Amino acid sequence: MAVIPVDVAGRPYEVRVEAGLLAELVPNCRGRLRKRSVPIVTDANVHAAWGEVVETALRDHGHEPHWRVLPAGEQTKAWDTLASTVDWLLEQGVERGDHVLALGGGVIGDLTGFAASILKRGCQFIQLPTTLLAQVDSSVGGKTAINTRAGKNLVGAFHQPALVLADLAALDTLPERELRAGYAEVVKYGLIGDADFFAWCEDNGPALLSGNSRDREYAVAHSVAHKARIVAEDERETTDTRALLNLGHTFGHALEAETGYSAHLLHGEAVAIGMVLAARYSARAGLMPKVSAERIAAHLDAVGMRSELRQLDLACDGSALAAHMLHDKKMDSGTLPFVLMKGIGKAYLDKSVSLDDVAAFLNEELARGA
Ligand code: NAD
Ligand code: GLY
Repeated sequence: MAVIPVDVAGRPYEVRVEAGLLAELVPNCRGRLRKRSVPIVTDANVHAAWGEVVETALRDHGHEPHWRVLPAGEQTKAWDTLASTVDWLLEQGVERGDHVLALGGGVIGDLTGFAASILKRGCQFIQLPTTLLAQVDSSVGGKTAINTRAGKNLVGAFHQPALVLADLAALDTLPERELRAGYAEVVKYGLIGDADFFAWCEDNGPALLSGNSRDREYAVAHSVAHKARIVAEDERETTDTRALLNLGHTFGHALEAETGYSAHLLHGEAVAIGMVLAARYSARAGLMPKVSAERIAAHLDAVGMRSELRQLDLACDGSALAAHMLHDKKMDSGTLPFVLMKGIGKAYLDKSVSLDDVAAFLNEELARGA
């Protein structure tokens, strides 16, 4: 088992990574389940795949699970579901010192974490991430949120979990497309600040995606350790360090907005193309070698991910995509910081990017290969 400490000031916690953690949930929670009754929030797909395992794991140790099974999908991260989930937790008699379990992907983790942050001004919660994206990114670091009419993740709180148990066995039931989408966030860590890890991904990514358990454990643990270092240094994203985790996300969010946050383009798929765009934009500005940018696109192609804008069949131009960026929550006094690269593993935050130039670049990309 890999155990990664997340040293946030005042609330340090651990991320445990291994196959089989859910089946042995109670010992792995190490005394945190202090009452017989255990509240668990999940979604319908995860409940179908893992509900019985978790139910048995709890009952075998004398606990009584209380399930709140929400619809799967991004629409669950909404005001009405937040309100009804908080009401449900109150009905369950959850106290501040109790731990609510969040069993699922980023949607369940973000919603449950936010509910926990406001319940009685903050109760404890444990992340049980079941997607690759949630294991390497969303379950770690304490960002919680819901979506509103104005956009994604615009209402939320920083609220760290008490523990994260990343059961690698959960990835066995994850749809392949979701697994690939999460893989983009693994690659991201290499591109941000770890060229050796990117090279490892080039060598081992296909085996990891095909199910190699040793590679999965290495990739998840390595990614979490990278994120833990960043979060420990800049928990609230007040210096430029944590913002590096947004590599590919500014371009990616524009693509998600243009495609209506739909199944046409999953978040991780948007991030994958976004990372290629960030790299090519950096190369176009003379910051990094063009060959390095193309290496990123080639790796995403090699693992079966879309890496080119034209593969999305968008009916818009670069200005329309850049216009989506105006609503980005990172916009600060009329400036949108972009994560650019000086090479693979050398990301930095650039606050001087012109959106007109980004629009022109996106037009070039839309015409690429036409
Ligand atoms: P998700 O939670 O919607 O899960 C993807 C799909 O896989 C869903 O249909 C789900 O039911 C299903 N699923 C999950 N685990 C499964 C399993 N083991 N077996 C079978 N099916 C399973 O999506 P996601 O990609 O995990 O998370 C995306 C969300 O995370 C977005 O809302 C995004 O904003 C958020 N996010 C948050 C952070 C953060 O730091 N808090 C970081 C990145 C993304
Ligand atoms: N996923 C970006 C962050 O946690 O900051």
